[in-house]
Formats: sequence, structure tokens, C-alpha cells
Amino acid sequence: MKIVVLTGSPHKEGTTDLLASEYAREATDKGHELIRFDTAHMDIHPCIGCDYCRQNDGICIYRDDMKMISDELEDADAVVFVTPLYYFGMTAQLKTVIDRFYATNIALRSTPKKAYLIAAGADEDDWAMDGLKAHFITMCRYMKWEEMGSVLGLGLSVREDALESDYLRQVRDLAYKIE
Ligand SMILES: Cc1cc2nc3c(=O)[nH]c(=O)nc-3n(C[C@H](O)[C@H](O)[C@H](O)COP(=O)(O)O)c2cc1C
Repeated sequence: MKIVVLTGSPHKEGTTDLLASEYAREATDKGHELIRFDTAHMDIHPCIGCDYCRQNDGICIYRDDMKMISDELEDADAVVFVTPLYYFGMTAQLKTVIDRFYATNIALRSTPKKAYLIAAGADEDDWAMDGLKAHFITMCRYMKWEEMGSVLGLGLSVREDALESDYLRQVRDLAYKIE
């Protein structure tokens, strides 16, 4: 199975990097092909809604790093979104990538994919992930992607918190069960 992992944190060695790395290790150990994009460290311009792509066969007016992601997403079987919680949603960096799906919307919606969400936030309130989860489910429904599961880590302010938590095991399980 070909898995594309899209991370959204600006921290190169932060909490969600640990969760994404753990996921990737388990999935590759199982023999899956996995390609990871750390979107916060890529050159990806926000969509400006100009509709240039609508008149130009899905080619975006911005010739930036989004092309690399779009090319890999085309034939991916699964997409894993990994983000720290920023004001109870995903980071702007990850959302920027999702907005850029617009150019290749038809192709993305017509190729079946499994979708997973991995997130970490500092809060411990049981409602802290509600907004993010609802957005993810709604997006999957629209994209016609199968929403397969999530690991939503609460009480994770820094990487060390995740190291001591059960969330690493949960992320490994998520990767182990992918098929
Ligand atoms: C701008 C900003 C906004 C944040 N908003 C939230 C939030 O709404 N809820 C929460 O629980 N944690 C919030 N946090 C904390 C991060 O989600 C948390 O520290 C996370 O572990 C960071 O992961 P990372 O190291 O992978 O970036 C915020 C952090 C920043 C910098």
C-alpha cells in the first residue's frame, strides 16, 4: 500500500514529529511504501481562489512544492494527516496544503483513499479535539475518502510528554492495522 503522510508542525523535532516517525517506522516495517512531507518546511503558497486551475487542466498558478505532494497523492492508497492542535484545529501550514487540493479536486475525489488523523494538543479537556475531528470527518466525506481512524493525543505540550504516553503505542497500532 502507498501511504502519504502530511505533517503540519513547524517544530522539526516536536511532539507530532515523534508520532509521525513512530507511525512511519511501523508502516514501513510492515512493508508499505511511505512518503512523508513536512509541509511547514516546504514552499507552498496559499490558494488565492483565482480559478486559474479550472481553466488550465488542474495546473495551479503557483509552481511551488505542492506539485510534489499532488503527484504522490494521485496514486496513494492512504493519506495520514499529522498536526499539532492550533486553536483547536489543524495548523495553517497543513490547511494550506488541503486548500491546494482544489486544483486537483476531481482527480483526488475520484481515487479511493483511506484517511487517518494523528494530532497532539496540550489541553487535557475531552472536548479539545472535537473541532479538528469534525473538520476531518467532514473533509473525508466530501473527498469520498474512507475515514479509517485517528489518534488524538491530549495533554501533550512537548515531545517528552508523548514519549511517556500511551499514544505512541496507539500510533503504532494505527499503522499496524492499515491494509
Ligand atoms: C500557536 C499555538 C496554538 C496552540 N493551540 C492549542 C490549542 O488550541 N489547544 C491545545 O491543546 N494546544 C495548543 N497548542 C499546543 C500544541 O498543540 C502542543 O504544544 C503540541 O504538542 C505541539 O506539537 P509540535 O511540537 O509537534 O508542534 C498550541 C501551540 C501553539 C504554538
